[in-house]
Amino acid sequence: MHNLDQIIQAATSAFAATDDHAALEQVKAAYLGKSGQITGLLKGLAQLPTDERKTAGAAINRAKEAVESALEERREAIRRKTLARKLAAEALDVTLPGRGQARGGLHPVTRTLERIEALFRSIGFEVADGPEIESDFQNFTALNTPEDHPARSMHDTFYLLDERGEVAPGVLLRTHTSPIQVRYMQAHVARHAGQARMPEIRVIAPGRVYRVDSDATHSPMFHQVEGLWIGENVSFADLKGVIADFLRRFFENDDLRVRFRPSFFPFTEPSAEIDVAFMSGPLEGRWLEIAGCGMVHPNVLRHVAIDPENYIGFAFGMGPDRLTMLRYGVNDLRLFYDGDLRFLRQFI
Ligand code: DAH
Repeated sequence: MHNLDQIIQAATSAFAATDDHAALEQVKAAYLGKSGQITGLLKGLAQLPTDERKTAGAAINRAKEAVESALEERREAIRRKTLARKLAAEALDVTLPGRGQARGGLHPVTRTLERIEALFRSIGFEVADGPEIESDFQNFTALNTPEDHPARSMHDTFYLLDERGEVAPGVLLRTHTSPIQVRYMQAHVARHAGQARMPEIRVIAPGRVYRVDSDATHSPMFHQVEGLWIGENVSFADLKGVIADFLRRFFENDDLRVRFRPSFFPFTEPSAEIDVAFMSGPLEGRWLEIAGCGMVHPNVLRHVAIDPENYIGFAFGMGPDRLTMLRYGVNDLRLFYDGDLRFLRQFI
């Protein structure tokens, strides 16, 4: 039947013109669906005389099979094409060079802290730690800092709010690392309670501290390193020796000057500021303040139950941010806290 061949050909080329499964199924309906051409022919068999019905039926069924197999072929072709397209889109170029692991580095201030710790450990100091949220007692009272001291004012110190949103009395962000002195001495005394002689205390305590202060040389968060040496016979001369030796080793420079300038801190008596001056380089001859220090005040020792008649020693608090600026020649403190990789990468 000529007509059937035409239908097969038309169906095959209509199938071939489709490019995805949805379109193909639509075209299929035109031939094999309920009102499709082939289905229509099969329905028409009933009208044929009985003797023609058999041959006509067989011919239509062969045509139907031919259309179905053309359909199946096209389905398969579309499946292969879709897969190939997907693979091409997701192709991996295995010949590309690897991206590699990005290289990180320690923050310059962290480098300084590690360096300070190593230098003090080498002369027998321990390294201690303390909480950044402190009590009024540890941060001020135990350090012989009176109620009316300006550091206690709201303008200078970050206080914390309680659950009702009101200032929680007695809780604050530590304004210095000195409260670690108090904590360390209390623990030390407890550890050696009942012993005739208390072993020496030799400790440094690095950490973050907080003040309401912000400009090129002040940041609301900065670092300090506290130092404390308490024994039966520790003098101001020991303090001078430890600090001068530390600074020469820290800056790898034997040709620097160290000056102790009289000052005042509530927790030391006498007290001094420590200044350093380099004998060469861009800062040659300028005195730069890098720490406070002094002989621990008897009241501080009394607060932690150490008898000031039997024990004496010195304390200091230095600014490692400042030391980092001097060591690397950085002139704006804020660079350390901006997180700008162009700056930080220089230290890797
Ligand atoms: N805590 C002082 C401050 O933040 C620094 C300081 C000065 C610490 C003298 C000391 C010290 O231990 O003896 O300004």
